[in-house]
Amino acid sequence: DWQMQNVLEEEIKKVTATVGPDDHVICALSGGVDSTVAATLVHRAIGDRLHCVFVDNGLCRYKERERVMATFVKDLHLPVTCVDATEQFLSKLKGVVDPERKRKIIGAEFIAVFDEFSHRLEREIGKMPAFLVQGTLYPDVIESCPPPGSGKSHSHTIKSHHNVGGLPENMKLKLVEPLKWLFKDEVREMGALLDVPVSFLKRHPFPGPGLAVRILGDVTQDGALDTIRLVDEIFVNSIREAGLYDKIWQAFAVYLPVKTVGVQGDKRTHSHAVALRAITSEDGMTADWFHFDGKFLAEVSSKICNSVRGINRVVYDITSKPPSTVEWE
Ligand code: XMP
Repeated sequence: DWQMQNVLEEEIKKVTATVGPDDHVICALSGGVDSTVAATLVHRAIGDRLHCVFVDNGLCRYKERERVMATFVKDLHLPVTCVDATEQFLSKLKGVVDPERKRKIIGAEFIAVFDEFSHRLEREIGKMPAFLVQGTLYPDVIESCPPPGSGKSHSHTIKSHHNVGGLPENMKLKLVEPLKWLFKDEVREMGALLDVPVSFLKRHPFPGPGLAVRILGDVTQDGALDTIRLVDEIFVNSIREAGLYDKIWQAFAVYLPVKTVGVQGDKRTHSHAVALRAITSEDGMTADWFHFDGKFLAEVSSKICNSVRGINRVVYDITSKPPSTVEWE
């Protein structure tokens, strides 16, 4: 698309003009589409004066770290450091069951890790980076500063736990937000022009606090993280194999802190139940549960019970948003 190619070139020029010739730029990659496209664009503009960091908080999906790092490094040639902060996050989350406390702890730990990374960078390059890249989109901008009279002034506080903002104010970084005039579809289009793999651009959204809000109760409870990773991987792979991935907004598994009785082989078991959730949505604000056919669900259920230790029951979530939210926490 010629028009998008023009927008892309304009944005690259703007970044080059904004960032001084000796300035360095820092970017936190989440593994999502927006931060990846934003970083790739900035990299085109200023090359390796961009410094990206991917923080593994121990709450990622199955093989997520390896998969996104491969895309960043092999496909996109981004200068990226992977920080494994698993122990740091999980030790802070031990025993925590309240969803909002989980989010606060994860947010605070992220800032601590990011801060440490930027100081390490400062020692390496001899100065503090001056700019921060953020993958802010146009809808985030409208939501943060709704037009007067729109009656939307509270929406930002409602979603305050979502991606906008949240970095240390004392760092005094100026923002580079090359996507802030774009909608999601346009970001995907721009990403394709930047050679971001199409399969990556079509990834479902994933919440910042990761599996912490998909394990009900204590995230560190015995085996929960490993179990939910396997269940989630089986579910999402089955969706891909059935050719349904692009029809669904989000699909995932939830670990329930509930044991139920089952019979496997000729033994009675007393094991955990998991829930599966898949939804369609335009923007995540409202959602409908996805109507799989019964045969698909039956096959997924038996695959899960047959191959994941400690699971003997699978339930499917048939609630829309509202009254439910997308996530269970
Ligand atoms: P809810 O559960 O609020 O989710 O209906 C709406 C959309 O937002 C995602 N979500 C989050 N994203 N940090 C994020 O970055 C969060 O704390 C968070 N909570 C929910 C959710 O996955 C869905 O796409």
